[in-house]
Amino acid sequence: MKVLVTGSSGLIGSEAVRYYDERGAEVIGVDNNMRAEFFGPDGDTTWNLHQLQEAVSDRFRHVSVDIRDRENLFKLFEEVRPDTIVHCAAQPSHDKAADIPLLDFEVNALGTVNLLEATRQYCKESPFLHMSTNKVYGDAPNELDLIELETRYDYGDPAYANGIAENFRIDQCLHSLFGASKLAADVAAQEYGRYFNMPVGIFRGGCLTGPAHSGVELHGFLAYLVKTAVTGGHYRIFGYKGKQVRDNIHSYDVLCAFDAFRDNPRPGEVYNLGGGRENSVSMLEAFARVEAITGEKIDYEYLDDNRSGDHICYISDLTKMHEHFPGWGITRSLDDIFDELVSAAQALAAST
Ligand SMILES: NC(=O)c1ccc[n+]([C@@H]2O[C@H](COP(=O)([O-])OP(=O)(O)OC[C@H]3O[C@@H](n4cnc5c(N)ncnc54)[C@H](O)[C@@H]3O)[C@@H](O)[C@H]2O)c1
Repeated sequence: MKVLVTGSSGLIGSEAVRYYDERGAEVIGVDNNMRAEFFGPDGDTTWNLHQLQEAVSDRFRHVSVDIRDRENLFKLFEEVRPDTIVHCAAQPSHDKAADIPLLDFEVNALGTVNLLEATRQYCKESPFLHMSTNKVYGDAPNELDLIELETRYDYGDPAYANGIAENFRIDQCLHSLFGASKLAADVAAQEYGRYFNMPVGIFRGGCLTGPAHSGVELHGFLAYLVKTAVTGGHYRIFGYKGKQVRDNIHSYDVLCAFDAFRDNPRPGEVYNLGGGRENSVSMLEAFARVEAITGEKIDYEYLDDNRSGDHICYISDLTKMHEHFPGWGITRSLDDIFDELVSAAQALAAST
């Protein structure tokens, strides 16, 4: 089996490399370390590439191609003709996109179409797993009736008890330029599935997390929070009284979802993929959990202004995932995730 992973030095991409390498695949990782260009030295993913190269087999090959570089990308596809494509390369930050609108759109939208078209031309039957985002719903989830509890917001309408489902409205709301470029990619991926009948799956992520995240203030909320707490840094909360809610899924459980689709693909199908209600947490609750594990108070400041278009309460409704893939489920609880993130951040801090 040959698996081509884009964004292979990033959080989800590196998990994909490990996952398929362990299952005996030849994995080709495409990553040009553009996260360092987006976020500066803290976003550099070279450390993760080195860890991967140590951890996985010699079958793994890293290629530093930019997914915008159609000529070299097509050459790679012609040579490799992968059996599976896991597409995780992206400009992933909601806020950063406003500084770099053209680059954001080129990477997220055009880069995705380059990959879909390369797949259509060289390996049309191969499952294509596209990592999308809950930001395709823009800020429309903020229009829902919300209730304010002591430490978090929640949905007031029982119809949303399980969270946001895939038929939630995607337009006529504020997305951020990132949300717009990812929505373009999401719809293009659906189209390659439906129009060309290709086995393309679209996964709209909630908060994806794990120790392989090069967390920065603008992206990777839990990894960045834990890193800040462990290194004694300063954290800034942006608005909503710190009661904004995110559902968190470990990168391993993302890969299990991808693999379930790979075994049983439905062309152009869309899935919401987060931790669900069980793995949901507000900023204030996340602070309390991290402080309980480390025994240290986090140094933080509260800023009244929320991030433009930021979700107040977002929980992924996982009903469709469970219905289509009964063998899939969340295996890493919020406790597991926090424990693992803190241990990894402490080990890293001790080694530097
Ligand atoms: N992390 C989250 O909370 C989250 C939530 C929802 C959706 N997503 C989506 O999941 C996907 C993966 O996110 P992640 O958290 O692993 O991001 P990440 O930044 O950790 O990984 C992305 C990788 O892609 C690489 N890359 C960027 N542009 C590239 C280009 N032009 N060519 C080649 N490589 C390039 C980067 O160097 C980086 O290593 C993205 O599509 C993101 O939008 C992430």
